[in-house]
Amino acid sequence: MIRTQDAHLHNFIKLVTTAATNVALYHLKHRQVLLLNKRALQALLLLFNIHGNITLKVVDEQLIFANKPVAKNLAIEKLIEWLTQNNISHLQLEPGVYAEELLGLVNNLSKTPDQKIEVKGSANIHYGHVEVRYKKPNTAQLAGLELDEITEHEAERFMEIYESVRDKKKLEMTGIHEIVNGFVEAFGTQSDALMALAPLRSMDEYTYTHSTNICMLNLAQAKVLGIEGQLLNNIGVAAMLHDVGKMFISPEILCKAGKLDEEEWQIMQQHPRLGAEYLLDTPGVPRLAVVTAYEHHMRYDNSGYPTTTRPRKQHICSHMTAISDTYDAMRTHRVYEKAMDIDQIISIMLDLAGTTLHPQLTYSFLQVLSELDKK
Ligand SMILES: [Fe+2]
Ligand SMILES: [Fe+2]
Repeated sequence: MIRTQDAHLHNFIKLVTTAATNVALYHLKHRQVLLLNKRALQALLLLFNIHGNITLKVVDEQLIFANKPVAKNLAIEKLIEWLTQNNISHLQLEPGVYAEELLGLVNNLSKTPDQKIEVKGSANIHYGHVEVRYKKPNTAQLAGLELDEITEHEAERFMEIYESVRDKKKLEMTGIHEIVNGFVEAFGTQSDALMALAPLRSMDEYTYTHSTNICMLNLAQAKVLGIEGQLLNNIGVAAMLHDVGKMFISPEILCKAGKLDEEEWQIMQQHPRLGAEYLLDTPGVPRLAVVTAYEHHMRYDNSGYPTTTRPRKQHICSHMTAISDTYDAMRTHRVYEKAMDIDQIISIMLDLAGTTLHPQLTYSFLQVLSELDKK
């Protein structure tokens, strides 16, 4: 019984904290948040079957449930940190909690202390406040590399690096390597890293969010194939830089809200070549990044661009990048397009497998997505 109860509790806390991370990145009513909230409620109901009331206490940086310390993982630590930072000694949940109410908890969890929100209880969720001084999380906890923290922290840095490309300065590879190392590390410690994929927003943010999305999707694909070490990092770096050639395309074309005309389309199609040439000239860029920048729109059947006279055997990283790119384009949206739902995306990708996209890699990618959906 204890084991089942532990599993339900861990599952519940994992789901509410992941939902909270997603609120910080998207918004409270985002599909992903609502889905995670619904699953959290299901886990909570299973817990209510065993316990009438659920009280979670924090004592000496330990989460206590049913008079026993709860085994720590990232989600538990995140909850402990949040409760501590908000001076909450215990969190009580009573049977009867409904989805909207639980979403209130998720919303509270998504706030950081500097947002200074007042944590208020509701009909079946109560917070016990204590007067303790705010204790700063130690550096070891901060080094735990939560994905949303990396995103926030590195976004500015990445834009500086990319903007220097636009100003025809040399690319600062150390920064790119650091960002990718952060992602690789986050993947090692946080199984839900993919859930934190960022949606597309303004143009500058787009460059960053698109590159990081492709980076995470490529890393996920590479990891299921058992790729580790330097190659894994290089695949991440190649993903971050795959569209660097777009920095040489005018914003009028890049950000055009409607369809591109023939001339504009011709210019747009130059970005793989421009990117590869630029990267070739940059010291410290892995060869794989040059190849990926050049090949990522070639398509599996070589029907894309740049065009080739002879059939070309593309690198696996170019195929992965094309898959991640196709997926990201469909799941994120610009103002003038609506994001597609996941079933629609899967069916389109299955149609493209074998022509535009590498078939086996596409199946393995869709497998990763469905695994994620089960969590
Ligand atoms: Fe591209
Ligand atoms: Fe792209």
